[in-house]
Amino acid sequence: MKKVLLFGDPGIDDAIAIIYALLNPEIDLVGVVTGFGNVDEKQATDNAAYLLQLGGRPDIPIIRGAKGPFSGEIVTYYPEIHGPEGLGPIRPPENFTANVRDFNFAFELIRKYKDELTIVDTGRSTSLAAAYLLLGEDIVNSVQDIYLMGGAFNYPGNVTAVAEANFHGDPIATDLVLEKGRDITIIPLNVTNHSIVTPQMIDVISAQQQNPFSTLIKPIYEYYTNAYKELIPGLNGSPMHDAITLFAVVNPHYFQYISRRVRVDTSEKSRGRTIADFRVKPDAEPLVTLDRIALSFDYHAYIKDFMKIMTSSLTHNK
Ligand code: BDR
Ligand code: CA
Repeated sequence: MKKVLLFGDPGIDDAIAIIYALLNPEIDLVGVVTGFGNVDEKQATDNAAYLLQLGGRPDIPIIRGAKGPFSGEIVTYYPEIHGPEGLGPIRPPENFTANVRDFNFAFELIRKYKDELTIVDTGRSTSLAAAYLLLGEDIVNSVQDIYLMGGAFNYPGNVTAVAEANFHGDPIATDLVLEKGRDITIIPLNVTNHSIVTPQMIDVISAQQQNPFSTLIKPIYEYYTNAYKELIPGLNGSPMHDAITLFAVVNPHYFQYISRRVRVDTSEKSRGRTIADFRVKPDAEPLVTLDRIALSFDYHAYIKDFMKIMTSSLTHNK
């Protein structure tokens, strides 16, 4: 079982990723670090708390992360894709128990679990970059590995022609993480745009009623899919950018990778663009300084797993 510290900005696809993690017997979710992104940090925290409560795991710590990017600029949120409160038409209830912690609790978890821990970042990179700055790279790099959802390699962006939303949201932070980090796997739009879940699949999941998420899943999915219909006409469904990143953590063999040193453009004009040198070179760099970029995957294996996990019941004692 993989111990996962998830950084995210729930947000519909982050919410589905949290549900996937709670239901997956191979994932031990040790904490959720919430930050600005799809919604503001406070809303992301409330949404994570609601999902953990619904899943019967209010004990899992929710760690309050970054409220904005390193640049200090005013943040743009995405209510048209994720809904005004980040869960489509659902408004999380106001009062429930949650184990909400300050950011330094993330340091405790990293120190405690070290090489047993996988960090997964499905949001803006600010909180993870702050951990590098405050805790130091030796300690953060003592974790087993790091997975980042973001970027687009020689592939169209989703917030600009060249940039993906997570890496665009705080390019200084993502660049810092890539510069200081080790054992990083990137799951970019090249992969996640193809992680399409169809309305028919969601009908099956919500009809099974095997877990407490079955009534939530359909309305949040429909909101997200309607938004995607506007963004990418002709798509039969919507991509699960963040859930497929967790699928990759426990099923890395279903992906094909290329290893390159990756940086992120922080300039105004092409902000958030991922830069990797794909030229064939005689002097190969040592693997340790390279980032592993997923470029394709086995869609059928992913869907088979997604359906199995999302229609399963909760195992509280995992
Ligand atoms: C990523 O950006 C966010 O809006 C989504 O939650 C996902 O993590 C996709 O570009
Ligand atoms: Ca996200």
